Amino acid sequence: MTQPGLVPVQTTPSASLRGVIRAPGDKSISHRALIIAALATGRSLIKGLLVADDLTSTANALRQCGVVIGVGKQGDCEIDGVGIGGLIEAADVLDLGNSGTAVRLLMGVLASHPIQTIFSGDRSLQARPMRRVAEPLEQMGASVRTGTNGGLPVVLIGAQSPMPITYQLPVASAQVKSAILLAGLNIIGTTKVIESIPTRNHTENMLRAFGAKIGSELIDGVTHITLEGHPELMAQEVTVPGDPSSAAFPLVAALITQNSEVVVEGVGINETRTGLYKCLLEMGADIHIDSVATVNGEPIANITARSSKLKAVEISASRAPSMIDEYPILAAAAACADGTTLMHGLGELRIKESDRLRAIVDGLQDCGVETSVTGDTLEVKGTGTGGVPGSENQILSHRDHRIAMTFLTLGLVSKVPVEVDDGSMIDSSYPNFLQDMNLIGAKMACSI
Ligand code: S3P
Repeated sequence: MTQPGLVPVQTTPSASLRGVIRAPGDKSISHRALIIAALATGRSLIKGLLVADDLTSTANALRQCGVVIGVGKQGDCEIDGVGIGGLIEAADVLDLGNSGTAVRLLMGVLASHPIQTIFSGDRSLQARPMRRVAEPLEQMGASVRTGTNGGLPVVLIGAQSPMPITYQLPVASAQVKSAILLAGLNIIGTTKVIESIPTRNHTENMLRAFGAKIGSELIDGVTHITLEGHPELMAQEVTVPGDPSSAAFPLVAALITQNSEVVVEGVGINETRTGLYKCLLEMGADIHIDSVATVNGEPIANITARSSKLKAVEISASRAPSMIDEYPILAAAAACADGTTLMHGLGELRIKESDRLRAIVDGLQDCGVETSVTGDTLEVKGTGTGGVPGSENQILSHRDHRIAMTFLTLGLVSKVPVEVDDGSMIDSSYPNFLQDMNLIGAKMACSI
């Protein structure tokens, strides 16, 4: 029986997928565009912003802090920036819903405003670790009280006289890096972040596009990022590229489904995000990346995927930051491949929107695929037939958008239809997922 509030969604196996779709706006870049435009002087125009629940959370939080934001048709959005240091104290708690990026980046921004902010979110967000952001922000002079087990709610009192820091990231996290850099905007002096494994650099690119003085230097294989405080950020017209993390679903769908050819247009191919595509090419995927443009320092391409006979690969931990959100869909591809795929260094997956390692293993086992975890390594024994047996039971999404989309995609090549217990969270990152998939020939529908 369906639990109240859950929206079960079912995929019926497909014989072929064909068509051209446009990737939804990049979630990471959309958050940064909203936040940085809010701190600039003048009115910015953001085109192609992802209109999804996670971005609504960020936009509403900024509005609570005094920013005027108007969202128009097709994701075009106008923001009247308040200037660096110009945010005001919110009268109420900032509820960031399901979005880890929203809460962590905004904690950074507000840490160098001398005001108090209380952050909260949904059950999943409340359980996610916030100490990793709180620690550097405390070094900058903010006071941060986290909730039980270091999660939300967080009470943050921004520093009166914030200090620049040099911080070596203990975990490869773009959210932690970005929180520090965004705090550094309102601090006199140079804020420096050192990362030994590169993480997505959209904050650096967007800050540069708005006129900040930001440097990135590779010294002995380690990246040193420096930001000069109090730059003059000037309003911009920004175009948000399509999200490679969302494009991954229709593209992997085409690879694993027979007689298929799918093109996803306008996908961001920033080096720090393309780990999945490298892995798929190593697995023998018929994928073509046709570079088309660079916007606001971000490269964009059209990506074509055709049905492919995939083979297993071993993926090193060093690739994890460039594909951290893509392991669920890669595991689905591995389930259809010939041989045993090993993915190392996946510890961070335990603290995403759900415990994704557990969710992948349970869901794949339910679908008849031998899967296990040893330490931080995921092992998937591919069926080698290009398909999976499937499950008579509902697959649990754990209210995680990427887990839901992964198993709905796998349902395309399952012997029996796959039903996911809840597809409602897909709205947090890819609200048109079902429409896009059905447009290319899939049969995915809510089952109540
Ligand atoms: C993100 C960084 C990653 C990623 C998340 C988006 C970002 O998280 O998983 O979906 O926009 O900076 P971590 O910084 O925790 O690795």
